[in-house]
Parts: sequence; structure tokens; C-alpha cells
Amino acid sequence: MITNIGSILAEKLEGKEVALRGWMHRTRTSGSMVFAVMRDPTGIMQITVKKDKVDSKSWKDASDSYVESSFTVRGKVAKDERAPGGYEIQASDFTTISRGEPFPIAKDLSEEFLLDVRHLWMRSQKMTNIMKARHHIVNYLREFFEEDGFYEMAPPIITRSGCEGGSTLFEVDYFGEKAYLTQSSQMYAEVFVFSLGKVYVLAPSFRAEKSRTIRHLAEYWHLEPEMAFYDYKMNMDLQESMVKYVVKKMVEEKPDLLKACGREPEDLRATIVKPFERMEYEVAVEEVNGLGGKMEFGQDFGADEEALLTKGAETPLFVTRFPKEIKAFYMKEDPQNPEFVLNNDLLAPVGHGEIIGGSERIWQYDELVARMKEQKLEPKDYQWYLDLRRYGSVPHSGYGLGIERLCKWVLNLEHIRDAIPFPRTINRCYP
Ligand code: 4AD
Ligand code: MG
Repeated sequence: MITNIGSILAEKLEGKEVALRGWMHRTRTSGSMVFAVMRDPTGIMQITVKKDKVDSKSWKDASDSYVESSFTVRGKVAKDERAPGGYEIQASDFTTISRGEPFPIAKDLSEEFLLDVRHLWMRSQKMTNIMKARHHIVNYLREFFEEDGFYEMAPPIITRSGCEGGSTLFEVDYFGEKAYLTQSSQMYAEVFVFSLGKVYVLAPSFRAEKSRTIRHLAEYWHLEPEMAFYDYKMNMDLQESMVKYVVKKMVEEKPDLLKACGREPEDLRATIVKPFERMEYEVAVEEVNGLGGKMEFGQDFGADEEALLTKGAETPLFVTRFPKEIKAFYMKEDPQNPEFVLNNDLLAPVGHGEIIGGSERIWQYDELVARMKEQKLEPKDYQWYLDLRRYGSVPHSGYGLGIERLCKWVLNLEHIRDAIPFPRTINRCYP
């Protein structure tokens, strides 16, 4: 019976004859015994091959195997307290599928080297666990929106105008004309507010980020919901429910995977049960300064300021109502206080930083044209977007969640690059 490692561990197939296909995780030969550890997509399993229990071809294959050689093994499942998972396979047959060459990744290699061989490093237990967790996080996000009646839309990636300011646009030569890789799908998501009501986009966004930090990528996955008739408070309520939903699912259904990634599930418990604090920008600036930071009114929070604000925090923190001049052109003015906009950032606990940016949108034509002019944008570059305000416009809100930022926090990763298989940064777009 061909099975996999996860089934052996889950179904406790002790005493049964099984066959497994996988890769050599570790191997050591001692006299007439090979102690191997096989990995497959579901886990790792100890294998013992005894020279006098197998034919000479099996013995040769087993003892000649490199780390990462692929092979099939047949044998009996036996209990072994010392083995990972508590079981081992006592081999009766060992057949190499591809021996390959000696694997270039051994212990104690530099981060840069591991990034050069990222395509091979993806086989490591560390990256396998993170990629599984990322898969579940994205699935739970989709599940949340599905249950709430959202439609998923497909945006274009090549666009004519920026959404988040000119400085981080990647230019593309589009058949001799200037175009850009999308910075955000928000404007395209807004199109569907007027037909489908509640929509989201999950797509890559591109930012020509010239700085090297532990939370910026030049290409990241961006989840962007947009909802008709939501004001900015309903927008925040939705963000909070979404984050609680995903975190609860991970804690309750994937605790072992969280632990394997370096996150203690209990540390996320408060996020599930406690309301997220909502703090106005002006209060947040005072708070930062009270904690030893040096911020002036009208500055945005950098990594240091975000770390001060969320030091010791158990749950994410909303910062709301930023000054108009430091935020994007589409954010609606606060009618009570026109220097400010009806927006929010959501900061993850203990310095993981901003995971969401959202706002109520300017939904009336004249107001949007006026703001564009204030921000020195050309209304003619945004004709189609302005059209949305010319025909039966309605109030609406939306937000953008960085998938890798969310993963970095939920999985407690040191660096955002490990939340994505092939990170694109200022000095790397290989492999
Ligand atoms: O705050 P940002 O720039 O907002 C927008 O793009 C809006 N148009 C979103 C919207 O309302 N639909 O980006 C949103 C989120 C950030 O909070 C962060 O999580 C992530 O996108 N993000 C990045 N993630 C990785 N690398 C980068 N360089 C990122 N820039 C933004
Ligand atoms: Mg932002």
C-alpha cells in the first residue's frame, strides 16, 4: 500500500507493511545499518535499512543516497520512542528514484546564499511549514469573504496611472507607451461596488521600494475589499472581524503548524477575544512622544514609531483619522474636521507594523476633482475613475491587507521575505 508519512502518524499503522515515496532529509550509515530520515509533503519519518534484511541493490541504493535523493521505501511500521513522530519504517526494500548530485545546502550557510538557492531552500522544513501556513491563512481569508457574500474580482496588473503616489511606481514599456505595474487594485475594485456591492481582489501589487527593511517587498500579495454603503467605522469593523476570523481558525485548527513556524498559539488568543483599540492619529502622535519618540504633527509613523505604539500590545491597534496631506487622494475628508481624512491603519502587535490601510472613499465628483488638484494630480489621467462618480455614485469604503505582512505577524517571522516563496527586493529578483 503506497501511503504517506502523515497517514502513518495519524492512523497509527503499527505493524503494517507500507510503501512511501519521498526525499532524503538526513542520512547516516553505521556499519551494516543506514539510519535515514525521509521527508514527504506530509512530514518526516525515520527509516532503518539493515544490510542483512534487504537485497544488495536496496543496500547499495540506501547507503549511496545523498541528502535530497528521491526514493521509494517499503517496510514495516514499528514504534520507536526516539523517532520523530514516534514511529519508524523497518525497510524491506529501498529503491532510488533519482540519486542526483550532492545537495548544495548544508548547515550554517549565509542568508544570502540561501536566497541564491531559494528554489532548493523551499524544500526545507522551515519553508515547507511557512508555505503550508500561508496557504491556510489565504484560504481562511477567502472563506471569510465567501461567508459574508463578497465576490472575488480579477484586476489588471498593467495600468495607466498610480494609486499610491509616483515615487514607488514601476514603469513598463507598453508597446512604446508608458504604463505601470499596479501599486494597488483598489480603483478597479471600486468599479464593482456599483454592480456587485461587496467585492475583493487578491492580486500582486508592486512597489519600487528603494529601502531595505524587514517589512517591504517590491512585489507583494494584496487583498483589497471594497464595499458599497460602508462608512469608515463599518470598514474597521469588517477589518477586525476578518483578522479575528483568520487568527481564530489558525489557533484552533492549525496550532501545531503555528508552533512549527515559531508562533505560540496562546499569544494570539487576545486577538480573538478582545476588541482592538481605536486611536486617533493626534492621540497616537502624543503617545509616541510620551514614550520617548520625536514626532511632529503631519508626519507618518515609521517602523520605530509603530514599535513604540504597539510595544507589549496583545491585539492589533487601529490608528484613525490621519492628516489629509499625508494620505492618498481618494480618502474622504472628515466632515467635522476637514484637515483629516476618514481612514485607518491597522498596526500588528509588538512592532510587526502596519498590516492594513483603509478608508472611506471620496464618492462625489467635484470633491474628488478638487482633491486631485490639491495633490497635483491630473484629473485627465483618472478619467475612468472619475466616471465612477459621474453616474449613480454611492458612498463606499475599502482597505488593503498585505498578505506577507499578515503572515509575518501571525507566524512571528523575523523577516517579511520568508512569508513569500521568491521575495523581490531592491537587490534581488533571482531566482
Ligand atoms: O497602505 P497601502 O499603500 O494602501 C493601499 O495601497 C490602498 N490602495 C489599499 C486599499 O485601500 N485598497 O497598502 C496597503 C497594505 C499595507 O497596509 C501593507 O500591509 C501592504 O499593503 N504593503 C506592503 N507589503 C509588503 N511590501 C510593501 N512594500 C508594502 N506596501 C504596502
Ligand atoms: Mg499604508
